[in-house]
Amino acid sequence: MMADSDDIALAAAILRKGGVVAFPTETVYGLGADALNREAVQRIFTIKGRPSYHPLIVHLEDTAQLQEWARDIPSLAYDLARQFWPGPLTLILKRAPQVPDLVTGGQDTIGLRIPDHPLAMELLQHFGSGIAAPSANRFGRISPTTKEHVSAELGSAVDLILDGGPCSVGLESTIISLLGPQPVMLRPGGIPAAALAQVLGEQGIANSDAHSGVRASGTLEAHYAPRTALRLVASERLHQEISALLAFGQRVGVLELKRAPSKAPTLERGVHHFAMPTQPQEYARIMYATLRHADEARFDCLFVEQPPDDDEWLAVRDRLQRAANAHR
Ligand code: TXA
Ligand code: MG
Repeated sequence: MMADSDDIALAAAILRKGGVVAFPTETVYGLGADALNREAVQRIFTIKGRPSYHPLIVHLEDTAQLQEWARDIPSLAYDLARQFWPGPLTLILKRAPQVPDLVTGGQDTIGLRIPDHPLAMELLQHFGSGIAAPSANRFGRISPTTKEHVSAELGSAVDLILDGGPCSVGLESTIISLLGPQPVMLRPGGIPAAALAQVLGEQGIANSDAHSGVRASGTLEAHYAPRTALRLVASERLHQEISALLAFGQRVGVLELKRAPSKAPTLERGVHHFAMPTQPQEYARIMYATLRHADEARFDCLFVEQPPDDDEWLAVRDRLQRAANAHR
């Protein structure tokens, strides 16, 4: 059942007392705590099994709060905020003195974003201060996009889970660092690359490879992984690779891009097909739920057809590649 105002009030009260609340955002569900309460933030790390040097994103309700959490804020931050907040964009800025070390992983920087989800917004307004929240999954695993995903994975470890239905974006925010002379994309995400380019104009955006020394768990080579071995395979090789495994009597799952029925490859028994959208935003919306679902079926191997090699698919390809890397 969707959370109502009473649930929000309860959630805010739990946060004030130092508790941990899972809540929906437009990207994925977050595991939230009072960003200024060290013990509460420590519980997030314990619940996730996340190394303490990986920084958390602090969620805000209004751009006016930026100065409380960051310093030396460049005007570009406000340009991006105006265009994309509330929305799936996280800005990395220099941190303000009040921010606890634990939130920033001991770095002098902070990740900030205003989420675009009515329940998250209501919770932030009720609570009245920043909420530190990573994705509500165990470290390295698939991010949750429904309340059920959170309860299956974290269950009684959290004080409350707010139900906001399935997330509309389905993968995490785009992370942009504004620390250097040129903006750097640390993680592709919910904001399409083309939309970012429109705001950034000629100065453009640098790749995260150019930016060393930044710790971002979402940028680890292996992350977002199901337990089942996942192999990312080019369309033209898919049938052949699957057949090879079937020859050994293995059971496989396949995430394939939906095609006209006549063009769909015919495959033997032992294969379970997941037809995936051919439009990147729609693919992203159901990607994690589909991977979880496929993971539960305990196939010997999960094949994923490589999505098109263009910018629109950047975030989806990034997550699939990291999921595949976990099993190499
Ligand atoms: O969409 C999202 O961003 C979701 C929702 C809940 O807001 N949150 C999320 O959090 O994905 P998490 O912790 O799973 O991933 C946040 C990423 C991590 O890779 C973290 O290292 C990076 O953001 N990050 C946070 N603060 C940072 C900082 N100061 N410098 C560099 N990276 C930072
Ligand atoms: Mg995460």
